[in-house]
Amino acid sequence: MPTAMVTGATAGIGAAFARRLAADGFGLVLVARDTERLQRAAEEYRAAHGVVVEILSADLATEGGLAAAEQRAGQGVDLLVNNAGFGQRGAFLGTDLSEELGMLRVHCEAVLRLTRAALPGMVEHGRGGVVNVASVAAFFPRGTYSASKAWVVTFSESLRQEVSGSGAHVMALCPGWVRTEFHERSRMDTSGIPDSLWLDADELVAAAIRDFRRGVPVSIPDARYKALAGLGRLLPRRLNARLSAGAGSRHS
Ligand SMILES: NC(=O)c1ccc[n+]([C@@H]2O[C@H](COP(=O)([O-])OP(=O)(O)OC[C@H]3O[C@@H](n4cnc5c(N)ncnc54)[C@H](OP(=O)(O)O)[C@@H]3O)[C@@H](O)[C@H]2O)c1
Repeated sequence: MPTAMVTGATAGIGAAFARRLAADGFGLVLVARDTERLQRAAEEYRAAHGVVVEILSADLATEGGLAAAEQRAGQGVDLLVNNAGFGQRGAFLGTDLSEELGMLRVHCEAVLRLTRAALPGMVEHGRGGVVNVASVAAFFPRGTYSASKAWVVTFSESLRQEVSGSGAHVMALCPGWVRTEFHERSRMDTSGIPDSLWLDADELVAAAIRDFRRGVPVSIPDARYKALAGLGRLLPRRLNARLSAGAGSRHS
């Protein structure tokens, strides 16, 4: 039975990955802070699919949590989904510095350290890989959130090249707006976002897994978000920065 480690597995996109991978017969290592939610999820997947589920309660914004997750990743997993993350409101000069630093830890340092721990085993066995959850926001400069997600995309593209031909694969996943707990947790006002723009987490994950199997380097499910990301890549940088700074609620 192959094993997948999913960070941020208690809610939203991470829970959708865990559900789908359990249904596909993967054993799971579920990582998040909320132990009770982890236990409930583990029981559900064991009962529904008969798979082995480990839970790891870890705050990836702390050294202790990061080290514990890193150690487990280094013991060997076939698929690593670096998904844990959170949003932020307000402009950089008005945000709390410790929150900014915590975001870099969860979005960048955790992704780097868990990938570094897990990927050598995948390359050695010639299979498996890493899905790093970034965002369409990676293509539009707007605060630490988008900067951290741009790092995730560039890091993943670079690693994908480095391991190409080994049988292991690295992919960045760039969702647009997805209905999860993300926006409520970061107290974002999403009232102006039309219903038609929201993606469903299970459908997003199904598209991501298809792209991963096809060896896509940067998966952007949904044609409208593909076009938006393409625009972000093509716009002159100064114009993109000006437009991004003026856009509505911070992030997607
Ligand atoms: N929803 C969107 O519109 C959207 C769009 C683009 C990209 N994304 C990205 O998708 C990823 C998942 O977001 P989501 O929308 O599914 O959000 P969500 O519903 O709020 O879920 C976030 C998950 O991350 C975990 N988490 C948060 N901080 C953590 C920490 N310090 N240590 C360990 N686990 C932590 C949470 O669990 P605990 O609270 O139990 O720790 C939860 O399981 C994020 O990286 C986000 O940036 C989301």
